[in-house]
Amino acid sequence: SSRRPWVGGNWKAAATKATIGPVVEALNKSGEGFAAEVVIFPSAMHLESTKEALKVDAKIGVQNIHSAEKLGAFTGELVVPQVQDMGLEWVMVGHSERRHLFGEADAVVAEKARVALAAGLKVVVCVGEKLDEREAGQCRAVVVRQLDAVAAVVPAESWAASIVVAYEPVWAIGTGKVASAEQAQEAHKDIREWLEAKIGAAASAACRIVYGGSVKPGNCTGLGAQPDIDGFLVGGAALKPEFVDIIRGAQ
Ligand code: G3H
Repeated sequence: SSRRPWVGGNWKAAATKATIGPVVEALNKSGEGFAAEVVIFPSAMHLESTKEALKVDAKIGVQNIHSAEKLGAFTGELVVPQVQDMGLEWVMVGHSERRHLFGEADAVVAEKARVALAAGLKVVVCVGEKLDEREAGQCRAVVVRQLDAVAAVVPAESWAASIVVAYEPVWAIGTGKVASAEQAQEAHKDIREWLEAKIGAAASAACRIVYGGSVKPGNCTGLGAQPDIDGFLVGGAALKPEFVDIIRGAQ
């Protein structure tokens, strides 16, 4: 497709200086302008050091954001003006761990996306069904509900230029149980069709939809070959030097 592949590395709260060092070294050694757009999501305490250490064409983003528009008294949170002050471009919202471990409702996730986009930041919106929802045939309905909440509050033009949708089936995250290429393609196609019906044909054609959930160098090729899979959001494997192989595999 004409869409530039996008690969995110989500370091969650799993990274330390000891694990970050070899990954940054591998990225720097690769010496490449990657075909894919690469965005690393360190924890808040590793944002600045990672930004300083990375010498390749990779962006840095935050894993979560508070929905307040201004600096203020929000202990333990990050706000958009701080992201901008640090010179960062990307914000992740709605990761399944935010939704399911920290109870973030669809409307909360949507408001975070709205505030970040309004400030000119780019946003990766994570969606995905839990195992019981998939088994109940609710996969499409859950993803559509999560996306509808975002579409209700963000400008339509954001979808083409400033939003990446990450489809991450919750049962595949950190489990080693990757979705099959067919399962992932089916969900991505649902999302692409939702974009066309809800936002328009141009947005549907332009918006990157990436897959997350136990992506590894050994399984990314089949996924990436699917017509509606435009890259990956990688967790565990993004903390290993082989992350570079996943980035190279996203063509
Ligand atoms: O944000 C990344 C996803 O949660 C995937 O994590 O690659 O460790 O399964 P994982």
